[in-house]
Amino acid sequence: MKLHVAALAILSFAIGGLAAMAVIPAGRDRLFSGLPSAGKALVGGPFSLVDHTGRRVTDKDFRGRYMLVYFGFTYCPDVCPSGLQVIAGALQKIGPKADRLTPLFISVDAERDTPAQMAEYVKSFDPRLIGLTGTAAEIDGVAKAYRVYYKKVPDEKSTGGFTIDHTALMYLMDPKGSYVTHFSHTISVDALAERLSKTIAD
Ligand code: NI
Repeated sequence: MKLHVAALAILSFAIGGLAAMAVIPAGRDRLFSGLPSAGKALVGGPFSLVDHTGRRVTDKDFRGRYMLVYFGFTYCPDVCPSGLQVIAGALQKIGPKADRLTPLFISVDAERDTPAQMAEYVKSFDPRLIGLTGTAAEIDGVAKAYRVYYKKVPDEKSTGGFTIDHTALMYLMDPKGSYVTHFSHTISVDALAERLSKTIAD
Protein backbone atom coordinates (compact mmCIF):
# COMPACT_ATOMS: atom_id res chain seq x y z
CA MET A 1 0.00 0.00 0.00
CA LYS A 2 2.84 2.36 0.91
CA LEU A 3 4.78 1.37 -2.18
CA HIS A 4 1.69 1.93 -4.24
CA VAL A 5 1.27 5.45 -2.89
CA ALA A 6 4.98 6.18 -3.33
CA ALA A 7 4.72 5.05 -6.94
CA LEU A 8 1.74 7.33 -7.42
CA ALA A 9 3.72 10.20 -5.95
CA ILE A 10 6.53 9.64 -8.41
CA LEU A 11 4.05 9.27 -11.23
CA SER A 12 2.30 12.49 -10.32
CA PHE A 13 5.61 14.34 -10.29
CA ALA A 14 6.51 12.81 -13.63
CA ILE A 15 3.19 13.87 -15.12
CA GLY A 16 3.61 17.36 -13.69
CA GLY A 17 7.08 17.51 -15.19
CA LEU A 18 5.94 16.33 -18.59
CA ALA A 19 3.06 18.78 -18.58
CA ALA A 20 5.46 21.56 -17.65
CA MET A 21 7.80 20.59 -20.49
CA ALA A 22 4.90 20.66 -22.90
CA VAL A 23 3.70 24.11 -21.92
CA ILE A 24 6.80 25.88 -20.62
CA PRO A 25 9.77 25.48 -22.97
CA ALA A 26 12.01 27.33 -20.49
CA GLY A 27 11.10 24.75 -17.86
CA ARG A 28 12.84 22.01 -19.80
CA ASP A 29 16.38 22.88 -18.74
CA ARG A 30 15.36 23.40 -15.15
CA LEU A 31 13.63 20.03 -15.05
CA PHE A 32 16.78 18.25 -16.08
CA SER A 33 18.83 20.06 -13.49
CA GLY A 34 16.82 18.33 -10.77
CA LEU A 35 13.49 18.70 -9.05
CA PRO A 36 14.28 21.32 -6.41
CA SER A 37 15.15 24.06 -8.89
CA ALA A 38 12.50 22.94 -11.34
CA GLY A 39 9.93 22.98 -8.59
CA LYS A 40 10.53 26.61 -7.70
CA ALA A 41 8.27 27.70 -10.48
CA LEU A 42 6.03 24.66 -10.50
CA VAL A 43 5.00 23.75 -6.95
CA GLY A 44 2.72 25.81 -4.72
CA GLY A 45 0.42 28.73 -5.21
CA PRO A 46 -2.53 30.59 -3.78
CA PHE A 47 -5.25 28.79 -1.83
CA SER A 48 -8.29 29.63 0.26
CA LEU A 49 -9.32 26.95 2.77
CA VAL A 50 -10.89 26.54 6.21
CA ASP A 51 -8.67 25.72 9.18
CA HIS A 52 -9.52 23.26 11.95
CA THR A 53 -11.02 26.06 14.06
CA GLY A 54 -13.44 26.89 11.26
CA ARG A 55 -11.64 30.08 10.19
CA ARG A 56 -11.17 30.86 6.50
CA VAL A 57 -7.47 31.26 5.69
CA THR A 58 -5.41 31.84 2.57
CA ASP A 59 -1.75 31.18 1.73
CA LYS A 60 -1.08 34.87 2.45
CA ASP A 61 -1.90 34.33 6.14
CA PHE A 62 1.28 32.24 6.42
CA ARG A 63 3.67 34.70 4.77
CA GLY A 64 6.76 35.54 6.80
CA ARG A 65 7.06 31.96 8.02
CA TYR A 66 8.20 28.75 6.38
CA MET A 67 5.40 26.30 5.59
CA LEU A 68 5.73 22.54 5.71
CA VAL A 69 2.80 21.36 3.61
CA TYR A 70 1.55 17.79 3.77
CA PHE A 71 -1.56 16.48 2.05
CA GLY A 72 -3.69 13.60 3.27
CA PHE A 73 -6.90 12.74 5.07
CA THR A 74 -7.87 11.83 8.60
CA TYR A 75 -9.18 8.36 7.71
CA CYS A 76 -5.85 7.40 6.11
CA PRO A 77 -4.85 4.10 7.71
CA ASP A 78 -1.06 4.35 7.76
CA VAL A 79 0.78 6.73 5.44
CA CYS A 80 -0.60 10.02 6.77
CA PRO A 81 -0.24 9.15 10.46
CA SER A 82 3.35 8.03 9.99
CA GLY A 83 4.24 11.18 8.05
CA LEU A 84 2.58 13.39 10.65
CA GLN A 85 4.42 11.62 13.45
CA VAL A 86 7.69 12.39 11.68
CA ILE A 87 6.68 16.05 11.30
CA ALA A 88 5.72 16.25 14.99
CA GLY A 89 9.02 14.62 16.00
CA ALA A 90 11.04 17.00 13.82
CA LEU A 91 9.22 20.04 15.25
CA GLN A 92 10.16 18.92 18.76
CA LYS A 93 13.73 18.37 17.69
CA ILE A 94 14.38 21.77 16.08
CA GLY A 95 13.22 23.58 19.22
CA PRO A 96 12.71 27.36 18.89
CA LYS A 97 13.32 27.24 15.12
CA ALA A 98 9.89 25.62 14.86
CA ASP A 99 8.46 29.05 15.73
CA ARG A 100 9.46 30.17 12.24
CA LEU A 101 7.62 27.35 10.52
CA THR A 102 3.93 26.50 10.12
CA PRO A 103 3.15 22.82 9.60
CA LEU A 104 0.03 22.43 7.46
CA PHE A 105 -1.98 19.27 6.93
CA ILE A 106 -4.24 19.80 3.91
CA SER A 107 -7.11 17.36 3.48
CA VAL A 108 -7.84 15.69 0.16
CA ASP A 109 -11.15 14.42 1.61
CA ALA A 110 -13.82 17.14 1.33
CA GLU A 111 -16.57 14.63 2.17
CA ARG A 112 -15.37 13.37 5.55
CA ASP A 113 -12.83 15.92 6.77
CA THR A 114 -14.92 18.65 8.39
CA PRO A 115 -13.07 21.30 10.44
CA ALA A 116 -14.23 19.49 13.62
CA GLN A 117 -12.86 16.18 12.36
CA MET A 118 -9.56 17.89 11.42
CA ALA A 119 -9.34 19.52 14.88
CA GLU A 120 -9.60 16.16 16.67
CA TYR A 121 -7.02 14.68 14.34
CA VAL A 122 -4.28 17.35 14.25
CA LYS A 123 -4.22 17.83 18.01
CA SER A 124 -3.30 14.17 18.43
CA PHE A 125 0.03 14.87 16.68
CA ASP A 126 1.15 18.37 17.65
CA PRO A 127 -0.73 21.46 18.86
CA ARG A 128 1.17 23.54 16.28
CA LEU A 129 -0.13 21.50 13.37
CA ILE A 130 -2.82 23.33 11.38
CA GLY A 131 -5.44 21.26 9.58
CA LEU A 132 -6.95 22.75 6.42
CA THR A 133 -9.98 21.53 4.53
CA GLY A 134 -12.49 22.96 2.09
CA THR A 135 -14.97 22.22 -0.65
CA ALA A 136 -14.10 19.64 -3.28
CA ALA A 137 -13.28 22.48 -5.70
CA GLU A 138 -11.05 24.29 -3.20
CA ILE A 139 -9.17 21.10 -2.38
CA ASP A 140 -8.81 20.31 -6.05
CA GLY A 141 -7.31 23.74 -6.65
CA VAL A 142 -4.66 23.53 -3.93
CA ALA A 143 -3.81 19.91 -4.85
CA LYS A 144 -3.24 20.96 -8.46
CA ALA A 145 -1.04 23.87 -7.35
CA TYR A 146 1.17 21.47 -5.39
CA ARG A 147 1.09 18.80 -8.12
CA VAL A 148 -0.59 16.44 -5.68
CA TYR A 149 -2.35 13.43 -7.10
CA TYR A 150 -5.35 12.00 -5.24
CA LYS A 151 -8.10 9.63 -6.17
CA LYS A 152 -11.06 8.19 -4.33
CA VAL A 153 -11.06 4.39 -4.44
CA PRO A 154 -13.69 1.96 -3.10
CA ASP A 155 -12.82 0.36 0.25
CA GLU A 156 -15.55 -1.56 2.10
CA LYS A 157 -13.61 -1.47 5.37
CA SER A 158 -13.41 2.32 5.48
CA THR A 159 -16.05 4.75 6.77
CA GLY A 160 -18.26 5.76 3.86
CA GLY A 161 -16.94 2.85 1.77
CA PHE A 162 -13.94 4.57 0.24
CA THR A 163 -10.32 5.43 0.80
CA ILE A 164 -8.12 7.90 -1.08
CA ASP A 165 -4.85 7.20 -2.85
CA HIS A 166 -2.68 10.29 -2.72
CA THR A 167 0.77 11.79 -3.08
CA ALA A 168 2.53 11.62 0.28
CA LEU A 169 5.27 14.22 -0.02
CA MET A 170 6.05 17.07 2.39
CA TYR A 171 6.66 20.40 0.70
CA LEU A 172 8.87 23.01 2.32
CA MET A 173 7.93 26.53 1.25
CA ASP A 174 9.88 29.67 2.14
CA PRO A 175 8.50 32.76 3.96
CA LYS A 176 7.46 34.24 0.60
CA GLY A 177 5.47 31.12 -0.24
CA SER A 178 7.96 29.78 -2.79
CA TYR A 179 8.95 26.15 -3.05
CA VAL A 180 12.25 25.20 -1.38
CA THR A 181 12.27 21.40 -1.49
CA HIS A 182 10.21 18.34 -0.71
CA PHE A 183 10.63 15.24 1.42
CA SER A 184 9.24 11.73 1.29
CA HIS A 185 6.86 10.75 4.11
CA THR A 186 9.36 7.94 4.83
CA ILE A 187 12.07 10.44 5.87
CA SER A 188 13.36 9.93 9.44
CA VAL A 189 12.70 12.42 12.23
CA ASP A 190 16.45 13.14 12.45
CA ALA A 191 16.87 13.73 8.71
CA LEU A 192 13.83 16.01 8.52
CA ALA A 193 14.90 17.95 11.61
CA GLU A 194 18.37 18.44 10.16
CA ARG A 195 17.06 19.67 6.81
CA LEU A 196 14.55 22.03 8.42
CA SER A 197 17.11 23.34 10.87
CA LYS A 198 19.61 24.04 8.09
CA THR A 199 17.09 25.81 5.89
CA ILE A 200 15.63 27.91 8.66
CA ALA A 201 19.13 29.01 9.75
CA ASP A 202 19.88 30.49 6.32
NI1 NI B 1 -2.64 9.21 3.58
